[in-house]
Amino acid sequence: MTIIRVAHPGADYDVLVGGLGEALPRLEVRSGGHRLPVISDQRVFGLHGDRLAGVVLPDPILVPEGEAAKGWPTLASIVDQLARMDIKRGTPIIALGGGSVGDVAGLAASLFKRGCPIVHVPTTLLAQADSAIGGKTAIDAAGQKNLVGTFHHPLLVIADPTFLDTLDSRQLRSGYAEVVKYGLIDDPDFFAWCETYGDGLLAGDGDLRRTAIEHCVRAKARFVAADPDDTAGTRALLNFGHSFGHAIEAVAGHRVLHGEAVAVGMVFAFAFSVELGLCPAADADRVRAHLQAAGLPARLGDIGLTGRGAAILTAMLTDKKAQASGLTLILARRLGEAFVARNVDLPRLAAFLERQT
Ligand SMILES: NC(=O)c1ccc[n+]([C@@H]2O[C@H](COP(=O)([O-])OP(=O)(O)OC[C@H]3O[C@@H](n4cnc5c(N)ncnc54)[C@H](O)[C@@H]3O)[C@@H](O)[C@H]2O)c1
Ligand SMILES: [Zn+2]
Repeated sequence: MTIIRVAHPGADYDVLVGGLGEALPRLEVRSGGHRLPVISDQRVFGLHGDRLAGVVLPDPILVPEGEAAKGWPTLASIVDQLARMDIKRGTPIIALGGGSVGDVAGLAASLFKRGCPIVHVPTTLLAQADSAIGGKTAIDAAGQKNLVGTFHHPLLVIADPTFLDTLDSRQLRSGYAEVVKYGLIDDPDFFAWCETYGDGLLAGDGDLRRTAIEHCVRAKARFVAADPDDTAGTRALLNFGHSFGHAIEAVAGHRVLHGEAVAVGMVFAFAFSVELGLCPAADADRVRAHLQAAGLPARLGDIGLTGRGAAILTAMLTDKKAQASGLTLILARRLGEAFVARNVDLPRLAAFLERQT
């Protein structure tokens, strides 16, 4: 088991990467031996719930699968069930599932009785490599992705790569997009690693999965420590591909997975950087080629959004990150060097999006 410490003012926490069996005793220490409430979805709990037997209360709180969990009805239902179970303030709540479960469970935990600790047991590649770390919680509201949320840093994160053995290949690829993101933003060597080993990781090699998860957790821990509440601008790089990606999710609805939208978004961020004369075209070509080779979408036609460039721009301008002062995007100077670009030239962006097929 590898232990990665995430530094956070007043609330450092550990991410344990490795076997759940080895990690659970640490959780039992934190819970004082009491059984804890668990929030999961039917599929994940059916497949893996028994791995938490003896640690969690017998009746799980089940939420809808996938993005559908991230809404007011689920949040209200979790709070109702925690109240009915008479969960005391301060009781750690376990989130067992992907990023959707983690986001809504984290939000509920941050609100219930003014805050209960959350323990993330992420079960997707996306959640293990990215979303379970960093303390962001969210639901979608008013048609906007992640509109309502809090910062609620976990007590502990347990990332066991063997959970990924039951994940379907589309979900795995979607998570892989966020893995590649860590190479693109500031680590060209890790991007090269992905080019060499990505196939093996996707095909099921447990050692490669574990290596990638540990690498991404360390990278995210660095970003989070430098900017815990996402105010300094450095953590913003983690949103690479996400302004485009969230807009694509808003236009496509739940048909497109988060990582798929981010994959197209990262290709767009590179292509637009090339168009502005900021980035070599060869770098953008390499990014597109790798994501396509990994079976991810790289253009609007791949996700059924041909001709929807204008709608994507509109969604980008209503996204919560579009400040009154102008649109801020994360762009690239080269492979492995992303930066925050403020006051993006909107007519050029509109023309760029119109041309995407
Ligand atoms: N909080 C953050 O910092 C952050 C970062 C990135 C993404 N996110 C959010 O994460 C969400 C996406 O999460 P996700 O990609 O993990 O998918 P998900 O949580 O939406 O889960 C997708 C599907 O995979 C199934 N599943 C999960 N684990 C499984 C397993 N081990 N075996 C079989 N099936 C399994 C689930 O039942 C569900 O049907 C998005 O809403 C995104 O906005 C949050
Ligand atoms: Zn993301």
